Amino acid sequence: MAVAATSPSLGPFSPVRSPTKRRILQSRMAVRSTGTIVTPILIDLQKSCATPLPVLRHVADAMTDDMRAGLVCDGGSDLKMILSYVNSLPTGNENGLVYALDLGGTNFRVIRVQLGGKDERVVDTEFDQVAIPQELMYRTSEELFDFIASGLAKFAEKESGKFSLSPGRKREIGFTFSFPVKQTSIDSGILIKWTKGFAVSGTPGNCVVACLNEAMERQGLDMRVSALVNDTVATLAGARYWDDDVMVAVILGTGTNACYVERTDVIPKMHGHTSSGNTIINTEWGAFSNGLPLTEFDRDMDAASINPGEQIFEKTISGMYLGEIVRRVLLKMAEVDALFGGFVPEKLSTPFALMTPDVCSMQQDITSDLGVVGSILNNIFEVKSSIRARKTVVEVCDTIVKRGGRLAGAGIVGILQKMEQDSEGLIFGKRTVVAMDGGLYEHYPQYRKYLQDAVTELLGSDISKNVIIDHSKDGSGIGAALLAASNSKYA
Ligand code: BGC
Repeated sequence: MAVAATSPSLGPFSPVRSPTKRRILQSRMAVRSTGTIVTPILIDLQKSCATPLPVLRHVADAMTDDMRAGLVCDGGSDLKMILSYVNSLPTGNENGLVYALDLGGTNFRVIRVQLGGKDERVVDTEFDQVAIPQELMYRTSEELFDFIASGLAKFAEKESGKFSLSPGRKREIGFTFSFPVKQTSIDSGILIKWTKGFAVSGTPGNCVVACLNEAMERQGLDMRVSALVNDTVATLAGARYWDDDVMVAVILGTGTNACYVERTDVIPKMHGHTSSGNTIINTEWGAFSNGLPLTEFDRDMDAASINPGEQIFEKTISGMYLGEIVRRVLLKMAEVDALFGGFVPEKLSTPFALMTPDVCSMQQDITSDLGVVGSILNNIFEVKSSIRARKTVVEVCDTIVKRGGRLAGAGIVGILQKMEQDSEGLIFGKRTVVAMDGGLYEHYPQYRKYLQDAVTELLGSDISKNVIIDHSKDGSGIGAALLAASNSKYA
């Protein structure tokens, strides 16, 4: 990368106080031909976040190895490789009125779906989305589940006799619960731990369906959960309903995870086989950690998190964390490299003040003076910035997002190559679809491009032509409803 040896102009903001300090800073910095101020921190960051092909290959291979180890026994690797008890995917014949309840992050959604079988497919859907009050993420299990059950009750009331049920039959729900759950059957499972900043007491170690049932009883709501599924599994089911080539589903949103169709005869920890010979494995790949290119900023963020040492892949590639990593880099640049002319805005020290959507908006700024970047920095951190500082900020954002997107791509290749190794030609030799959902993937064009680039680099253009990464927007709602219908007690 060409670095011009000119001294930077730091602009008219709070000047660096002593001449000696200014001289030291100037000797540490240069300006790229693009106008970015290059500091040792930026150079180090770009070096440690680099994901050249050998790094990507190592990550993909390590993902494959960890998947195998996790299939041998529980605790065999970072990847939990959870048996989903979803052993057959939607066929199109699913029929009737079903509900889906989706709890995965800052919102929960309730959906009512009228399925019409092969000919009519999805006849009608209605949904409600409710924001989960921030404080409920840190309170008790009863409080969280009461809130959800009351939202579900309000939504169910709106059905107001539109659909009739045969006597003795309860409304059935597909419950998408997007946290690591050790499934004990298709309709029960124990929360292993919370992720994505949730710290609700009393749920880990307990069956989440029982928690929901108790809350529904307290609400006087007579419904039953017929399928408990992870959001990746629901997305896979929803996408497979329309496309038989869907074999993998990935979520890249606040958190991240992937699931895929596995042959039961290559799962040593599964005793017995399913009639389809397949099952869906929820990898919980957010916990992957092998060989990732990490920086001091990642380590510090992890140490300060509520789950240190856990979900390292998630903390490197998912929407909840990218903004926070960028903030930490900018803070150090402001302190050590006088990024904002020696002024270190107080708000730059507030954890999670910078969110990934802000990072995304800054990267979309095409104005010549990077005015959008300037106003975002000003609105969030109350700091005035020179154009050069703004360019540097954008370069930091790009560095972190590029690493995230490329590592996500390597993770996908890790899954595909595991499947290919066990079924020669059946993955790479034909069209294979990866159903993708999540706000990070949906809204961040650069992230999407970096992800796709990594997949193409790793697989080569011939094979990667067969691998279709398909955005399956909100497929998990219909997917959970379909699984509720196919696992109905009354079917
Ligand atoms: C959870 C997964 C979930 C993913 C995406 C992760 O934090 O552990 O279960 O699938 O987020 O929502």
